[in-house]
Amino acid sequence: MAIIYTDEIITATEYNELRNSVGWSVPTNRCAEQALAHSLYICSAYQGQQIVGSGRVVGDGSLIFCIMDLMVHPDFQHRYGIGVRILHNIFHYLKVHACPEADILGMAALGRERFYEKMGFVIRPTDSLGAGMVMPYAKLLKY
Ligand SMILES: CC(C)(COP(=O)(O)OP(=O)(O)OC[C@H]1O[C@@H](n2cnc3c(N)ncnc32)[C@H](O)[C@@H]1OP(=O)(O)O)[C@@H](O)C(=O)NCCC(=O)NCCS
Repeated sequence: MAIIYTDEIITATEYNELRNSVGWSVPTNRCAEQALAHSLYICSAYQGQQIVGSGRVVGDGSLIFCIMDLMVHPDFQHRYGIGVRILHNIFHYLKVHACPEADILGMAALGRERFYEKMGFVIRPTDSLGAGMVMPYAKLLKY
């Protein structure tokens, strides 16, 4: 059956199903709903009624964009080019909305760095760019 791509918002249940399928932590539906509603752009892939992949962009809509949560259901990974197609749709969105000065950012899960590099991302740090950073939630609570 064909894979269909859409930029319609997905449900929290669909989002959490995908997160669970790729082994990521699963937030409450309320948290997921808020996250999805505040996303700038979401591209999802369906086979029939089943969601098989998704990726989203968060940011300010002009200067800062972060590509997040690129997920393809394990049964569909490395077979149909779904991850690449979702990223292409995201790039199309960014070409329309990003200013030339925009920062277009992403975070690779462990072992996925080469996938993003093949798609044109620059892996930090470089000679001119420092490392990316992340604040663990547990550390945040100490402030
Ligand atoms: C990473 C992921 C999104 C890729 O999507 P996919 O649909 O499986 O990949 P595609 O079929 O589009 O593969 C496209 C290309 O990327 C390559 N690729 C996929 N995963 C790769 C990896 N981990 N390292 C290097 N190359 C990779 C494929 O070999 C293929 O190369 P080709 O075009 O030269 O044949 C998907 O495997 C996934 O959801 N993984 C689990 C969740 C995850 O880690 N997401 C990334 C979050 S940062």
